[in-house]
Amino acid sequence: MKALPHLFESNKKWASKIRASHPEFFSRLVEQQAPEYLWIGCSDSRVPANEIVGLLPGELFVHRNLANLLIHTDMNCLSVLQYAVDILKIRHVIVCGHYGCGGIKAAMDNTPHGLVDNWLRHVRDIQQRHQAKLEAIRNKSERLRRLCELNAVEQVINVGNTTIIQDAWGRGQKIAIHGWIYDIADGLLKDLSVCITSLKELNILQEKR
Ligand code: CO
Repeated sequence: MKALPHLFESNKKWASKIRASHPEFFSRLVEQQAPEYLWIGCSDSRVPANEIVGLLPGELFVHRNLANLLIHTDMNCLSVLQYAVDILKIRHVIVCGHYGCGGIKAAMDNTPHGLVDNWLRHVRDIQQRHQAKLEAIRNKSERLRRLCELNAVEQVINVGNTTIIQDAWGRGQKIAIHGWIYDIADGLLKDLSVCITSLKELNILQEKR
C-alpha cells in the first residue's frame, strides 16, 4: 500500500486538470524554466507562494524558510539566489513577510523554543534595532504586525547587500527587490513600498530605516 494515498490521488487529479486545459503544459516545462520572479517567503503553510500570486509551475522560483530571512551565511538561500540571478536571470526578487508570523512571534516572546531560537536570533536583532519605534506601539498585536513588516524590509536590505545582487547590478543586470507583506486574514498582499533597483536606492533605504 502506498503511503498517504490521498495525496497521490489529489496529485493525479491536479495533473490531469492542467493537461486538460493546456495539453502541452508539462512537455514544455521539461525543456526549460524561465521564471521572472524569485520569491523569498515564510515556510508557513498558510502562505503558499504560487497560489497567492496566481502563478503556474515554471513562473516563480521559490525559497521559503522560517520568518522569510536572508542570512548572509545561509548557503541554502544564497545558492537559490545565485542560481536565480546568474542562471535564470530573474528580474524581480520578492521578499514576502506575513502578518501573524509564528517565527516573528516566537522571536518576540521571552520563552525558550529550542534550536530554532538561534535562527530567530536574527529577528531579535531586528527587534532590538527598531526597539524605540516598536515600544511606541502600545497594542501588542499591532507591535507584532509592525515587526513582521520591519523584518521584511530588513530582508530586502539583506538581499541587496549580497555579493550576488551587487555583482549583478555592477554588470548592469536589471533586478528589482521588493518588500511585500501578506495578510493571512484576508488573503491580500500589501506592497511595503521599499522597492530597490540599484546600489544607490539600497543606500537610501538603509539610511532611512
Ligand atoms: Co511565518
